Amino acid sequence: MLMKRKEVVVITGASAGVGRATVREFARQGAEVALIARGRDGLEAAAREVEACGGKALVLAVDVADAKQVEAAADEVEQKLGPIDIWVNNAMTSVFSPIKEMTAEEFKRVTEVTYLGYVYGTLAALKYMLPRDRGTIVHVGSALAYRSIPLQAAYCASKHAILGFFASLRTELLHDGSNVKTTMVQMPALNTPQFEWVRTRLPRKAQPVPPIYQPEVAARMIYHAAHHPDRREWFAAWSVIKAIFGNKLAPSYADHYLAKHGYDSQQFGGQVERNREGNLFYALPGDHGAHGAFDERAKTWSVEGWAEEHGKPLAVLVGIGIAGTAVGLMRRKAV
Ligand SMILES: NC(=O)c1ccc[n+]([C@@H]2O[C@H](COP(=O)([O-])OP(=O)(O)OC[C@H]3O[C@@H](n4cnc5c(N)ncnc54)[C@H](OP(=O)(O)O)[C@@H]3O)[C@@H](O)[C@H]2O)c1
Repeated sequence: MLMKRKEVVVITGASAGVGRATVREFARQGAEVALIARGRDGLEAAAREVEACGGKALVLAVDVADAKQVEAAADEVEQKLGPIDIWVNNAMTSVFSPIKEMTAEEFKRVTEVTYLGYVYGTLAALKYMLPRDRGTIVHVGSALAYRSIPLQAAYCASKHAILGFFASLRTELLHDGSNVKTTMVQMPALNTPQFEWVRTRLPRKAQPVPPIYQPEVAARMIYHAAHHPDRREWFAAWSVIKAIFGNKLAPSYADHYLAKHGYDSQQFGGQVERNREGNLFYALPGDHGAHGAFDERAKTWSVEGWAEEHGKPLAVLVGIGIAGTAVGLMRRKAV
C-alpha cells in the first residue's frame, strides 16, 4: 500500500510569534516543516516541537533580506524534505518611531526584511512550484496593509507593498491558468514578542492596538487559508474588517482619528530602554516563543475568524461585527 506523502511547508519567521504558532499548527496536523528565521535558539526549539508531533523539521538560519540565502534555503528544503507544497511568507521587523526621527538606513532595512523578504520567498517558491504546476503561497498580512498608523511608517508601507505585490502575483497566476495559488490573510493586533524586541524610540512600552488576539488565532487562519487558496483574502477578526472598510469609507476621518488616538493606543506602562537597538539587523539570543507580554488581555478566539473558516459570507461577518459592536456600546452605556 502506498503511504501518503506528508505535506511540506516552509514558514519564514518561524522562530517566534505568529510564525512559531503556525509551525505548531502545521506540525499538529502532520506536516513536515522547514523553519526559516535568523535566531538559532528559537529555530531549534521550534524544530523540537515539530519532532514531538512526529514530523520532520529542517532548521534554516537565513536572513530573508538576502535573496540568495532564501533561494538556497528552498533548494535545501527540496533536497531534504521533498517538494514544497506550501510557502508561508510571515517574517517581519519594524521600527517604532516618528518618521522625523527615523534614518534612511532604518527605512531600507525594514523594507528589505518585511517587504522584499516576501518577494524573495515568493521567487524561491515559484522556482519549484511553477514547473510542477502545484503549490500555495500564503502571505501574512495585516489591517495595516490597508490603513497606515502613526509611529510605524516603514512597516505599514511594507505591508501596503506586499498587498500590491500579491495582487499582481495573483492576476499573473490566473492569467497563466496556473494551479499555483496565492492567498493573503489580514491579521488583527496579536500578542507576539514583536513589541518587546523591535527597535523603538517611543517614550513608553509598545503594544499592539487593542483588541489583541493570541497568535494561535492567526495560525489557525493561516492553516485554513493555505488549504483553501482559491479565496483571495481572509480577515481574521472584526477589527480588521472595521479598519479596512472604515478607511475605504472615510480615510480623512481615519487620519484625524489616528492623529488623536494612534500614539496612545500603541503604548502602555512605563519607560522602555532608551533607543533600544532591537532585532532590526541581528537576531536576539534566546527562545522567545509564540506569545508576547499580553496573555491577560489577549483573546484566544475570534468569532469572525471562526465564521471565515466555516465558509460564512462576508455579509454574515459584517452582521456579527455590527451586532458585537452594538452590544459593546450598550454595555458601556449601562456601566
Ligand atoms: N503582532 C501583531 O500585532 C501583528 C498584527 C498584524 C499582522 N502581523 C503580522 O504577523 C507576522 C508575524 O509578526 P509577529 O508579530 O509574529 O512578529 P515577531 O514576533 O517579531 O516575529 C518575527 C519573526 O520574524 C523573524 N525575523 C525577523 N527578521 C528576520 C530576518 N531578517 N530574516 C529572517 N527572519 C526574520 C523573527 O526571528 P529572528 O529574529 O530569529 O530572525 C521572528 O521569527 C508579520 O507578517 C506581521 O506583519 C502581526
